[in-house]
Amino acid sequence: ARRYVAGETLADASARTSKLNEVGFVATLALLGEEVADRARAQRAVGEYVELIDRIRADGLRSGISIKLTLLGLKIDEQFCRDNLFEVAAAARTAGLFVRIDMEDHTCTDATLRLYHGAQGRYGNLGLVLQAYLRRTLSDIASLEPGTSVRLCKGIYIEPAQVAYRDFDQVRESFVACLEALLARRCHVGVATHDDRLVDRSRVIVGALGLDEKSYEFQTLLGVREELRDRLHAEGHRVRVYVPYGADWYLYSIRRLRENPKIAVYVLRALLGLR
Ligand code: FDA
Repeated sequence: ARRYVAGETLADASARTSKLNEVGFVATLALLGEEVADRARAQRAVGEYVELIDRIRADGLRSGISIKLTLLGLKIDEQFCRDNLFEVAAAARTAGLFVRIDMEDHTCTDATLRLYHGAQGRYGNLGLVLQAYLRRTLSDIASLEPGTSVRLCKGIYIEPAQVAYRDFDQVRESFVACLEALLARRCHVGVATHDDRLVDRSRVIVGALGLDEKSYEFQTLLGVREELRDRLHAEGHRVRVYVPYGADWYLYSIRRLRENPKIAVYVLRALLGLR
């Protein structure tokens, strides 16, 4: 998991982010964990996020934070989750930090949008994530306020065909259509993909519109396609790296392995002492 996760502790997360900052990347720090079923665990996560915010400030890191609402108790009770989100958003605002709300599976989409709008209306330092594989995303974009900060990604969950495109090229087409629609609404877009074809298309789109980092940035996951990330940075684009950390690294890492089965072979070889 080391490739995809900064480590288990706040110190690990800070050290990894600081190294990324030194070579010109900005970051989003995310505490690992999701689908929490008891209130005490969700409240502990709030405390850990407040510590993270303090640490980002104390260490002078160039990083925002990213949050999964099911870690803050969305599956327990929406009102409870809202209170937890407000607490984190308030602490982040005091520290001058930005909060991105990750998007989870489609059963969470409506509640996530509601909670985002509530928190953003109150604190003004939040952004959301939209998934190009969802059939609804273009219409969700149509109801966003101009200037909204959106991370656009393909989407990682296994979703039914009624709600999501399953065909690889359809997802790509939707990604491009969503990017164009977001930019037309003057949203700030975090182009979150490691797909060369989408990166190339996005570069052409932002180039043709003459946009700069006030309107877009590229975003990548820690440990994934570092050569692409370095190239984008060298070309002068702002690149933000998503840096997950924490004890709950297992589920996250399994998802990364599923996306790239070649890595599973390396892991097996290493375990068997073959390299
Ligand atoms: P794709 O999966 O086609 O990958 C493109 C290429 O990248 C592959 O061909 C491979 O070469 C390489 N690659 C991909 N994964 C790799 C790996 N693990 N190791 C090595 N190489 C790999 N999803 C979601 O549902 N909600 C969210 O909030 C977020 N948040 C998010 C933040 C950021 C910063 C990123 C980059 C992504 C997300 N995602 C996400 C995940 C996203 O939805 C998507 O599942 C992954 O980014 C993979 O899709 P790509 O667009 O990268 O294309």
